[in-house]
Amino acid sequence: MTEQDFIPKSYNSTLESGSVKWASPSNIALVKYWGKKKDQIPENPSISFTLSDCKTITEITFTKKESADFSFDIYFEGEKNEAFKPKIQTFFERIEIYMPFLKDYHFKIETSNTFPHSSGIASSASGMSAIALCLMSIERSLSIVEVTDEVFNQKASFLARLGSGSACRSIEGELVVWGKNESIEASSDLYGVKFEGEVHSNFKNYQDTILLVDKGEKQVSSTVGHQLMYGHPFAKERFSQAHDNLAKLKTILASGDLNEFVKIVESEALTLHAMMMTSMPYFILMKPNTLEIINKIWAYRQKTDSKVCFTLDAGANVHVLYPENEKESILEFIKNELVSYCQNGHYICDQIGLGANQI
Ligand code: PMV
Repeated sequence: MTEQDFIPKSYNSTLESGSVKWASPSNIALVKYWGKKKDQIPENPSISFTLSDCKTITEITFTKKESADFSFDIYFEGEKNEAFKPKIQTFFERIEIYMPFLKDYHFKIETSNTFPHSSGIASSASGMSAIALCLMSIERSLSIVEVTDEVFNQKASFLARLGSGSACRSIEGELVVWGKNESIEASSDLYGVKFEGEVHSNFKNYQDTILLVDKGEKQVSSTVGHQLMYGHPFAKERFSQAHDNLAKLKTILASGDLNEFVKIVESEALTLHAMMMTSMPYFILMKPNTLEIINKIWAYRQKTDSKVCFTLDAGANVHVLYPENEKESILEFIKNELVSYCQNGHYICDQIGLGANQI
């Protein structure tokens, strides 16, 4: 597939109005995407677990209008939100060529998250993928040819990528690969693909408890962080390491080797933050409590035979990952030893999920 293949030929233009609604999840990368080329093309491949309960729910109501400019209103948790408008405007500008109906309708976009807005959890992945899916549903109603689910998901992911890179991994579950990698044949830089390799039962219902260490605004945005990979002294090595780690993880997912899984996942998280610390300008998104939690997890692993591990996204919060059969003991460990490092004692229990669904 090339970008050109996502440009539709023609539409049935009789549709006057309607409404569509999707719930789309967040995702957590195991091999991290950090660094991008023009048009949100990743510098290296990534793979993520799709989450189950951390979702954005978005409804778009559309009404026909004279074609001139984009016209839309956004409501976040019931209230009109002007702050989100520039991001959506940019998104519409980027995807207009692939969705030529955008100027023909006025859109009322109503959105809310299942997780607290100020939790510091990245809502751009779930948020952008939910909008992309709604727009795809509208396009499906306008289309004169049948849009198969495969085409639908692929284009939804392609559009979501143009909104926020990692959002392209939020359409399907349970594991999604984004970025061309030799070991995964269907992989593409343009969209995420469901990981179709063998997955051992050890990873069934894998748990992710998100410890909210810092709910504040990040000091450095992902956009700036990605840019700092240009001319980064370790960029080349890092990009090639991600390719290797993805190939290794493919084998680990098949064999169910949790010790090796822990090594790759934790190393990826620390490498992501090491890239931030060695950028120019350099920055640190972890907080003292992030490190306290990491050390507690390591100590816990040493004294038990637990396979619990951590990963981080571009922030201070810690995702605690563990197999379902450890659920009881790890939740006990979290309550006894980790909650005190969370802001206001807040954490969110989630697990691997199946992807977005239309409501
Ligand atoms: O999608 P963005 O531009 O917000 O970048 C997200 C990057 C990480 O969350 C740090 C890693 C990843 O692969 O999700």
